[in-house]
Parts: sequence; structure tokens; C-alpha cells
Amino acid sequence: MSEVPLERHYKESMPPLRIAVLVSGSGSNLQVLIDAMQTNELPIEIIGVISNREDAYAIKRAQLADIPVTVLSHTDSGKRMGIKTFQAHASAQLRAWQPDLIILAGFMRVLSTDFIDNAPAPMINLHPSLLPVYKGLDTHQRALQAGERWHGCSIHVVTAELDAGIVLTQALLEVRSNDSAETLQARVQKLEHQLLPWTVLLIAKGILNLQTVSAQPNDDSNYLPALPLKLWLNY
Ligand code: GRF
Repeated sequence: MSEVPLERHYKESMPPLRIAVLVSGSGSNLQVLIDAMQTNELPIEIIGVISNREDAYAIKRAQLADIPVTVLSHTDSGKRMGIKTFQAHASAQLRAWQPDLIILAGFMRVLSTDFIDNAPAPMINLHPSLLPVYKGLDTHQRALQAGERWHGCSIHVVTAELDAGIVLTQALLEVRSNDSAETLQARVQKLEHQLLPWTVLLIAKGILNLQTVSAQPNDDSNYLPALPLKLWLNY
């Protein structure tokens, strides 16, 4: 039997995970995924990016990487798009792209139950706190005010309730006595840039199966510890 070169075996056995990314801002997390795709560090193909803001720097990042971008910020009349119109267009675009996974990476609009339930692929969100604490906005400020010792970020399955879906993974750090909301944000963002590709790798390899994940401790047939899986990265 002739041997299959490792690289070819890898490519044949694992078709890339087709990913669509929704963004609203700078897109530094999108950039991490683009870099990992381009260097083959992750078995992914970013098949499209949707932005709800025309001034998001994430658009530039996607364009530089030749990734199709759909900007859904204004209607034909020039008015800012309402959430219903945004969702109708985003839904049609996602169906056309047929992703395996949809990632909300710094996407700052709240999506409806209908949109989430009818999404053509599982959807995950990156959130800058150790969920279930500090859902919503101003997470760094709130963690500081509460005198938290630990802070970090989470990746969770998107459900109709805001930031409440099952938490898949978390990265955490220890809050420093001289941290401000700004320094914490910068430190947590470094964690995000590690947590997102790690989580995507676990999904791409089928180690995390979004159809079957549960917060319960796993039975003997599953070698994973109970979710969320945690990364300790004391940046
Ligand atoms: C991240 O810090 C994320 O936690 C929050 O929005 C930010 C997006 O950053 N939800 P970027 O657009 O990926 O640079």
C-alpha cells in the first residue's frame, strides 16, 4: 500500500469548515481568523463577511483578503436599516453562502428569535466577560466596579435570550489592582484572539459538536470535561 503524504491526507480527510462572520467594528478577531486561514493553521474557509456598519474597519480587512463582503447598513432610500430589513437581507445572504458555522465577532445588533432559529448554520458569539456574569454592554467597567478578581471572555451558542446560550469556551485572566476599563479591555482582547481560533479548531475537528453540546457533565462515551472548556492565559 502506498503511503499518503500527511498534508494530502489532512486535506482529503477534513474539508474546510465554511464560515460566515458578522461584524460591526474593527474586526481584529476577524483578522485572526483570516490569518489562520491563510497560513493553514485552521481548516477553515471564510466564505463571507456581513457588516451592519459601512464604516467598520472589518470590511477593509475582508476586502484585503478577497473575502466577499455584504454591507447592510442603509436602505435604498438612504435611511439606516431597521433590524427587520437587516435580518431579511442577512438571512438571504447567509442562505446563498451556505456556511457550516456563523460567527458573531464584535457584531453589535441584537438579533430576533426568528432569525436565530432559522439561521442556516449554528451561530456562536464572542462576549467580553466570563458568562453568565456581565451579559450586555460595559462588561469591563462592571467587572471592575464589582471588584472581581477574575475576568475574561466567553464564546457561546447564540440563542434568542441575549448572551445566554450554552457557553462553549472561556479564557480568563486575573484583574490587576491598577487595571482601568481600558487596560482590561485591551488585555481581554488579547485573550479573545487566542480563544476564538482555539474554539473554531475544536468545532472544525468535531471535538465540539454544536448539535449535541450540553452543559451537563459528559457521560463515559465523551472524553471532554464539562463545558465551558477554559483557557488560562494571564496576559
Ligand atoms: C470584542 O472585544 C468583543 O468582545 C466585542 O466586540 C469587540 C470586537 O472587536 N463584542 P473586533 O471588532 O474583533 O476588533
